[in-house]
Amino acid sequence: MGKIIAVANQKGGVGKTTTSINLAAGLAYAERKVLLIDIDPQGNATHGLGADISQSKNHRTVYEVLVGDENIKDNVITLELPPMDVLPSTTSLAGADVELASNEFELGREQQLKIKLDAIKDEYDYIIIDCPPSLNLLNSNALTAADSVMIPVQCEYFALEGLTQLLSTIRLVQKLWNPSLSIEGVLLTMFDVRTKLSVEVQQEVRKYFKEKVYKCYIPRNVRLSEAPSREESIFEYDRKSEGAKAYAQLVNEVLTQNEKGGH
Ligand SMILES: Nc1ncnc2c1ncn2[C@@H]1O[C@H](COP(=O)(O)OP(=O)(O)O)[C@@H](O)[C@H]1O
Ligand SMILES: [Mg+2]
Repeated sequence: MGKIIAVANQKGGVGKTTTSINLAAGLAYAERKVLLIDIDPQGNATHGLGADISQSKNHRTVYEVLVGDENIKDNVITLELPPMDVLPSTTSLAGADVELASNEFELGREQQLKIKLDAIKDEYDYIIIDCPPSLNLLNSNALTAADSVMIPVQCEYFALEGLTQLLSTIRLVQKLWNPSLSIEGVLLTMFDVRTKLSVEVQQEVRKYFKEKVYKCYIPRNVRLSEAPSREESIFEYDRKSEGAKAYAQLVNEVLTQNEKGGH
């Protein structure tokens, strides 16, 4: 049964998309069956992997899945490298929030992604959802559909500020639509070993989230920021980079956490 992990933080630029792409790719290279869902209207994960909608059979995206009758199965793009499926996003998704709010649904506007995912969940080992930098209906759909949330935290001032808001959104989603939603883990991103600040933020985040924080952290690494312009994950772009090594460690931690004694 597929594990659905939403990568979320309402703050922009903290490493959600970089983490979604490289976690999904790493799991795919570990021979797990992976689907990456891009639910951000900016479509950074879609473009960063070259998952152009012109390649998809029907030129449809997560937008038609969310607000229309389209299913996920017929609309994923299967990539060769990394070997995984992507449900792409487009800018039309920016309007989905309003459309979801005004549509009459039998089962609630927050549940649309969950309904569609239930139909294909078993075909994958991991489903990763790259969330937008806001706490809107797109995000509620992701958190309602997910088993858990992975929270990337950028190592900078006020890193913990704003997380309070995300945590109360998670509690609200748990209360209203998804009681079993859990925190998959907190990931320190853009860590700079040379700065005292990164070290201090790390201590603060570990003190607050304790064992929920991954042992590994993602260093600031220029190769990670270059890879999307080549439409590659870090594992094709530069497997030997510090960024690739760090994401490989994250993949190991995720596998250990989820498959104790399994596979
Ligand atoms: N570990 C890192 N080292 C260097 N640059 C990074 C790293 N993680 C992300 N970036 C860059 O920082 C920017 C924001 O990252 P992104 O993953 O798009 O964040 P988000 O999805 O949260 O907005 C992007 O330009 C990305 O390439
Ligand atoms: Mg993003």
